[in-house]
Amino acid sequence: MSETAPVVTTMPRIGDPAPAFNAVTTQGHVDFPADYAGSWVILFSHPADFTPVCTTEFGATAKLEPEWSRRGVKVIGLSVDTATDHERWIADINETQGTEVNFPIIADKDRQVSMLFGMLDATNFRHGPSLGQTMTVRNVFIISPTKRVELILSYPAYIGRSFDEILRVVDALQLSAKYHVATPVNWQPGDDTVVLPFISDEDAEKMFADQGGFRKVRSYLRYVRDPSLRCL
Ligand code: BEZ
Repeated sequence: MSETAPVVTTMPRIGDPAPAFNAVTTQGHVDFPADYAGSWVILFSHPADFTPVCTTEFGATAKLEPEWSRRGVKVIGLSVDTATDHERWIADINETQGTEVNFPIIADKDRQVSMLFGMLDATNFRHGPSLGQTMTVRNVFIISPTKRVELILSYPAYIGRSFDEILRVVDALQLSAKYHVATPVNWQPGDDTVVLPFISDEDAEKMFADQGGFRKVRSYLRYVRDPSLRCL
């Protein structure tokens, strides 16, 4: 029988208030989500410092700074290593990925934040000097300015995330929040969106007058031009 302590999983659900915590990061102390009031936030975890997939992900995240900034998104990383480890690793990321990591990384050595967000990996454990200890999976929590969890992605340690997809869903979430539309399969900014099912035809005509109304394929399938294009 395994001697490993059971992994606590209390993952918040979509729509839940973002769990609150205080933590040490590479940029000082954070009081979450209070310090992020009014912003969209991406909180993302990774399994371990000084590992290949994580290094590429952090490099990519740093290079996307103009994209996060354009969308009003603040990024905060997490792993179960110390702030000193994170700082040494950031120097490596900057050198190997040709970038400048400029967002905070939570030092969650005691796994308090990881447990709060249900980020711990139930099956894979760390290697090297921390052999057998729990590690975090690759979670992404997107939190809105109302401090609600809006979207959750969860990837295993061995599979790097697509940051193009993360940008795409931020665009979709922000569009949906602003214009009360939904986005169909494989939606990209500028593509047609769909009218929410609980909005009547009459209301939809008024709501989307600037888009030229909607195109009705079925009573439940009504396409409308991307509402963010209305000013073009
Ligand atoms: C990585 O980031 O490369 C990694 C970390 C833990 C397990 C497997 C891969």
